[in-house]
Amino acid sequence: MEKKLIGKPIASVINKINKDLVQEHELSPKMVLIQVGEDPASSYYVQSIIKTAAKLGCEAELLTLAADAGQEELLGTIYMANQNPDIHGIMVQKPLPKGFEEHIINEKIDPMKDIDALNPVNLGLMLMENERFVPCTPAAVYYLMRYYGIDPAGKNLVILGRSNVVGKPLANMLLWKRAFANATVTVCHSRTKNIEEICQNADILISAIGIAHFVKEEMIKEKAIIIDVGINKIKDASGEDIFVGDVDFEACYDKALALTPVPGGIGRITTAVLYSHLVQSALFARNINKNVDELINIKLSENHEK
Ligand SMILES: NC(=O)c1ccc[n+]([C@@H]2O[C@H](COP(=O)([O-])OP(=O)(O)OC[C@H]3O[C@@H](n4cnc5c(N)ncnc54)[C@H](OP(=O)(O)O)[C@@H]3O)[C@@H](O)[C@H]2O)c1
Repeated sequence: MEKKLIGKPIASVINKINKDLVQEHELSPKMVLIQVGEDPASSYYVQSIIKTAAKLGCEAELLTLAADAGQEELLGTIYMANQNPDIHGIMVQKPLPKGFEEHIINEKIDPMKDIDALNPVNLGLMLMENERFVPCTPAAVYYLMRYYGIDPAGKNLVILGRSNVVGKPLANMLLWKRAFANATVTVCHSRTKNIEEICQNADILISAIGIAHFVKEEMIKEKAIIIDVGINKIKDASGEDIFVGDVDFEACYDKALALTPVPGGIGRITTAVLYSHLVQSALFARNINKNVDELINIKLSENHEK
């Protein structure tokens, strides 16, 4: 296995499948990204999603509501997108301004268009191992493990972070009774005691807490596999903004068996996963019986089986 687990080849495999399906079935997949106000970090992410659309033969439209728009206006916009047969995917950008009830927003997105997989119906299906869409970042971690042949079955796998978008769904997926799951999962959070000791026992350590360089060499086990989901903006020595992960990559490099870089690791795969959900949704809309996730898994497995 490679020491540096880069995301680019996985994103390329997924994007090729997305593009080929669009061409083969003459699909016109379209997503709307709904943003309330202009949070700079969220705008950056939105722009990177929109840029990808044309390369895949998809469309991504940004609907920006005023910063003082209320929840009713947002729900109205979601309702219109749910009703529109030309729209296959709906994504509401977070964070939302104060006063919005995220659980209500998530519930109102049509589960068949819920490409970000935040509707409780889709989260429930994931829990029961009968998934339609799973949250994109956990899926990116799963695909990375598939591609590099990292089988977590029976391994001590520790996840740092228990958010609804990363830690919790990822823990559930890695408990699935299927290939590239079956892990013994421990989830840590801000109230966890002896976090260092728990990490030191991890064969696979996945960090998603959002603290730059939280994971140090002394926290990891010899020959552990380290997957870094964190994206943190810090200043470098010259005062420039740079992005780093939760893991001190340089410090952990020699001790780890393999590790993902930031940037260039999981983040790179996440947008490709989002588009795979959009393509799946467009296939659903045409009643075409194709499982995009299955196609991706088959293709990714070819890498470590060769
Ligand atoms: N690569 C990607 O595509 C991608 C996608 C999404 C997010 N991210 C990145 O992943 C990171 C996490 O994102 P998120 O949305 O899951 O964040 P989040 O909602 O802020 O959740 C952070 C989690 O970390 C835990 N935590 C915070 N400080 C801790 C500490 N000192 N010790 C142990 N646990 C601690 C929190 O515990 P409590 O629950 O107890 O508060 C919480 O469960 C961020 O850097 C984000 O930018 C990357």
